[in-house]
Amino acid sequence: MRKKIVAGNWKLNKTAEEALSLVSEIDNMVKDEVSGDVSVVVAPPFPFLQSVGKLTQGNDKMHLAAQNVSEHESGAYTGEVSAAMLKSVGVEYVIIGHSERRLYHHEDAQTLYQKMKATIAHGMKPIFCCGEPLEERDADRHFEYVGKQLHDSLSYLSNEEFDQVVVAYEPIWAIGTGRTASSQQAQEMHEYIREQLSRMFDAEAAYNTSILYGGSCNPGNAKELFSQADVDGGLIGGASLKSRDFTDVIKSI
Ligand code: PGA
Repeated sequence: MRKKIVAGNWKLNKTAEEALSLVSEIDNMVKDEVSGDVSVVVAPPFPFLQSVGKLTQGNDKMHLAAQNVSEHESGAYTGEVSAAMLKSVGVEYVIIGHSERRLYHHEDAQTLYQKMKATIAHGMKPIFCCGEPLEERDADRHFEYVGKQLHDSLSYLSNEEFDQVVVAYEPIWAIGTGRTASSQQAQEMHEYIREQLSRMFDAEAAYNTSILYGGSCNPGNAKELFSQADVDGGLIGGASLKSRDFTDVIKSI
């Protein structure tokens, strides 16, 4: 059975104090209100990983994620954070290839592949993001575009490495815009992604891969999106910054 996952990507938000109060609210609400089998993942900025992780330690539904990782092991790379460092503070998941990193930090397919390798080698799970810009969807090239993203960064992984991978489909035109993919658009892309994965890896592994939807997912639309056969949860930006909204999204699964 594939895992249901709801992950909150905090991006460049919150101070130390705010991060701790947000995560303790989420932790309490999850304890009190969430009964189903779902992994709740929080991805705070790097400086707060350790303190946020300590707070969620006793709650086995809660898991810690980083928003990025260096492709390098160690050395003279000022400002970078390695997979070994993340692992040593209790990180379990790493978001890789978010469209904001591809766009603003020029992360290319090869770099993303190296980040995936580093993450997996250190015993963490990559959440690999893919998704098309609006012009590709308007030109009806969205399947081809996402297929290439998957192929270019994932196809060189072994079957064993692939077993650790979570995929997030995030159409760029839906991120932070208030515009969401319809549940049908999400489902058909998720089905396509799973089919592509089954060509690159074994079919059972592809069947068992969690594929999350991201892009203006909120308490109002989460239930409908999560009810689709190939949508196994969400990667949530804006709505993950408010404990009530985030918990309501989690409860929609
Ligand atoms: P959003 O962000 O929910 O604010 O659209 C999603 C994401 O970028 O992961």
